[in-house]
Amino acid sequence: MIAKTKEEIENLRTSGRMLAEVLKEVALLVKPGVTTATLDLAAQAGIESRGCKSAFFGYTPEGAPHPYPATLCVTVNDEVVHGIPSESRLLKEGDLVMLDLGLSYNGYFTDAAITVCVRTCDEAAKRLMEATRKALDAGIKEARAGNRIGDIGAAIEAVAKEYGYGLAEDLGGHAIGKKPHEKPFIANIGPKGSGEKIVEGMVLALEPIFTEGNGKIILDSDEWTYRTEDGSRSVEFEKTILVTKDTAEILTVL
Ligand code: MF3
Ligand code: CO
Repeated sequence: MIAKTKEEIENLRTSGRMLAEVLKEVALLVKPGVTTATLDLAAQAGIESRGCKSAFFGYTPEGAPHPYPATLCVTVNDEVVHGIPSESRLLKEGDLVMLDLGLSYNGYFTDAAITVCVRTCDEAAKRLMEATRKALDAGIKEARAGNRIGDIGAAIEAVAKEYGYGLAEDLGGHAIGKKPHEKPFIANIGPKGSGEKIVEGMVLALEPIFTEGNGKIILDSDEWTYRTEDGSRSVEFEKTILVTKDTAEILTVL
């Protein structure tokens, strides 16, 4: 969406603040032995207690065969996106866990994701997380009025190259606001100068996804979970931002 009024912007800010609060609460529960379903229940409770609604539960993104069956996506190690929480999935020490959450407040949607380690973080995981965070920051810097959507992807791609990580090229960010996913799609690759022009008021969810391997992904038999073809681990960080005059305001500040 393109937020024009003060009221729309205030609703989006509240949405983003509440989302960040819930995501932080959920992240605090991550420890060995916890099931991913427990995290989902906590996300659900956190959203409801704030008078918000889940963006993902019952939502069918374009191209998906069924509505998403949970509130939270919990994506572990070689899984890349859209991991479905389950009572039989116990987290273990050293797992690399991506938590992806979306909600609406008063009809305004925001979307964010973080990756955390279960208790201990090995050096390779730390580097992968550092690179993905850096890519998100680089993408946000390019998200300003007058630039193009491809400038965001080019900045993200450059960080992947610098570190030597794979990029899941078919996955990426999106505009958001009145719906969980709006056009345009925001690829995590360039070229610079390509795509739609960025204008003040655009609300965007940027989500770089890096893998330790070549970035090729396959879809699981649950028809939701994508995992890396080579079994390497994957990390994502996502933020919803509002494009202002010459910078972007982060709506989901953790
Ligand atoms: N942040 C993710 C995305 O934009 C989560 C989508 S969840 C689902 O793709 F509900 F669409 F499955
Ligand atoms: Co998203």
